[in-house]
Amino acid sequence: MNRSFLKWQGGKGSIITEIKKYLPTGKRLIEPFVGAGNVFINTDYESYILNDINPDLINAYYFLKANPKAFMTLLAQFFIDGAEQHEYLNNRRIFNNSRRAGKNFTRSVLFVYLNRHCFNGVCRYNQSGLFNVPFGKLKSAYFPDLEMLNFAEKLAKASLHCTDFEKIIGMAGEGDVIYCDPPYIPTSKTANFTTYHTKAFINADHQRLNAALIAAAKRGAYIVLSNSNTPETREVYLDFTFYEVEARRSSAAKAGSRKAVKELIGIYPQKKKTSVSFCLLPHHPDYIPITFSIGDK
Ligand SMILES: C[S@@+](CC[C@H](N)C(=O)[O-])C[C@H]1O[C@@H](n2cnc3c(N)ncnc32)[C@H](O)[C@@H]1O
Repeated sequence: MNRSFLKWQGGKGSIITEIKKYLPTGKRLIEPFVGAGNVFINTDYESYILNDINPDLINAYYFLKANPKAFMTLLAQFFIDGAEQHEYLNNRRIFNNSRRAGKNFTRSVLFVYLNRHCFNGVCRYNQSGLFNVPFGKLKSAYFPDLEMLNFAEKLAKASLHCTDFEKIIGMAGEGDVIYCDPPYIPTSKTANFTTYHTKAFINADHQRLNAALIAAAKRGAYIVLSNSNTPETREVYLDFTFYEVEARRSSAAKAGSRKAVKELIGIYPQKKKTSVSFCLLPHHPDYIPITFSIGDK
């Protein structure tokens, strides 16, 4: 299994083998919620569309793709000079004071430094958009050099986007495979983490996602969806067929505590293509065999 160079809440590293069982072959994989890209680096499609609403994440991929050597050199410097708590807090302050709009190389490298040094790899911003995760108190943070090289090489096959998922799913057509890993529907009122960026992902977003996926399936895309094992998931994504898989999740509240939880993988039923030839007048000059789809709602 290939590992991402980032830690990510809800990262799919632990169940990648299960997910791959449900992903068909195809030319292009579209990930509207790419996160740390665990599915991306463990699959082999000809091309990828990778998207996430978090500009820091997508800009880090952008700069890593453009110049992995420069990216890793500056990151190594931050690791060397930033192992202590006061250095972490100073780097976090530099990150928060940096320009957020557009692309900013140092900010992108700092984002990866913060990810590897903060508490549990949590990515959280306050309402003003400031990264506010405390120091992770690691004895020595792992420098993910091989993981970054591997990721950077694979990014040659990917186009990167930073927008809302609906726009990206709108790009899918016949033969595309979409793997969707949105922030999960909470399993309880208190336990869940759904705010990856500054805005929470609410039930109305899941409804929007369901509608966008059904529209893409009708255009001929194949859909695979991950979500929590809750009655609400089955209710919102009513037309999906769900399979239970066991994942080991670390909780955001307790570093190192990992427990097995069941989650769901959903597949949208494929429309079956059937060719029907009408043989009433096959020799007639206007005769055309008709292909139509069944299973469409
Ligand atoms: C569960 S994580 C994806 C984890 C990823 N599959 C992995 O293995 O690392 C969900 C992602 O959705 C992104 N996200 C949240 N709201 C979004 C939106 N409206 N459009 C696109 N991405 C969004 C978050 O920034 C987060 O990275």
